Amino acid sequence: MDVAGNRLMVGGVCASSLVREYGSPLYAYDEGVIRMRFRELRDSIPFSKLRIYYACKANTNPHIMRVLREEGAFVDVLSPGEVFLAEKAGFTPDRMMFTSTGVTDDEMRFMIGKGIHVNCDSLSQLDRYGSLNRGGRVSVRINPDVGGGHHGHVITGGPDSKFGIYFDKVDEIKEIVGKHDLKLVGLHHHIGSGILEPEKFVMAMNVLLDVAKKFDNLEFVDFGGGIGIPYKPGQERIGLKELGSMIAETFTAFCRRYGKELMLFIEPGRYMVAESGFLLCTVNTVKETPKHRFVGVDTGFNHLVRPAMYGSYHEIVVADRVDSAGKEKVVVAGNICESGDVFTRDEHGPVDRELPKLREGDVLAILNTGAYGFSMSSNYNSRPRPAEVLVEDGKARVIRKREDLNYLGYGY
Ligand code: LLP
Repeated sequence: MDVAGNRLMVGGVCASSLVREYGSPLYAYDEGVIRMRFRELRDSIPFSKLRIYYACKANTNPHIMRVLREEGAFVDVLSPGEVFLAEKAGFTPDRMMFTSTGVTDDEMRFMIGKGIHVNCDSLSQLDRYGSLNRGGRVSVRINPDVGGGHHGHVITGGPDSKFGIYFDKVDEIKEIVGKHDLKLVGLHHHIGSGILEPEKFVMAMNVLLDVAKKFDNLEFVDFGGGIGIPYKPGQERIGLKELGSMIAETFTAFCRRYGKELMLFIEPGRYMVAESGFLLCTVNTVKETPKHRFVGVDTGFNHLVRPAMYGSYHEIVVADRVDSAGKEKVVVAGNICESGDVFTRDEHGPVDRELPKLREGDVLAILNTGAYGFSMSSNYNSRPRPAEVLVEDGKARVIRKREDLNYLGYGY
């Protein structure tokens, strides 16, 4: 977090002045952080045939995606909508990979038509893909029986997960591949999101490589995304260098045994964009119950659903008084008509947070909201979404206009 004169700065611009200029609430992103995290990740894996696919579900703003494309990222897409936005960001189909679930034939036809690589999530999808694209290139997503993540909702490996083809279904995969004369060029897994334990990645990687040795003619193995970031004060950042070296070593040893140097893919989303984002909002209400002092703001879980959906912790700072002696315990509440709409909470409900004494008109910044913030936002309560601005070297530009009532879909 950048602070100057006790004021929060985003990309060299004072956060509260962004609100004055572009209105409240507002999503502001620091471009420098995105570039830094991408480079850090790339440099942590010493393997020459490395590709980083940005999982754009984390943040689909084409201007953000464009920054990552400029850095050399490929892109992981899950719907025709994401393809549309990736194209706007300048990604060509040969730099996209489609991994989704509950996939329809129409979606596959769309991907095949564009020449986008399809990664199949089930035996049924693989069979349907074969019927649509006999002789085509394909990869499959394996469920390695290992999962991880910051919340049960985001664990995508193991028997409770709907994703992938269980690791022991090798014969079934081969049979379908043979039936349609497909070229199985890759294996993939993604075990969950917000993982801070390197062991989980290692365990799953070993399972996937065990599966990989049963297939000839592979060209790549994709170890998915899921790298977490520290959201809570005191939470440790994952040892990226150690993790990266371990991934490179394990994979290099595998390739030696396999007899061919394969490509190594990863597809993180959160890691590159989460810390770049700030949801800026304004206090409009202060009220008390016998239990809590509530501070009401002009945004809610329609704009940032992570606290309400997963009990996620997001740090909150007062933009113009980042550090302040007089603190008080408050619950920061959104403006959606549901009691669950509080930003300081855990899975069970409101949790008091110590913040500088707040007044109506104060600008608050909800930190680390660059991933799964705007991309999960909605128009619930028929409220338009905020504008998004991207800030670099002291210059801000609007990368998505504030919605007006036309965005609600019915005209007025
Ligand atoms: N690859 C696949 C196939 C995925 O499903 C995902 C995320 C990723 C890559 C990127 O994962 P990441 O590196 O961002 O952890 N809304 C939740 C996170 C859901 C993740 C869904 N899949 C949250 O706000 O925590």
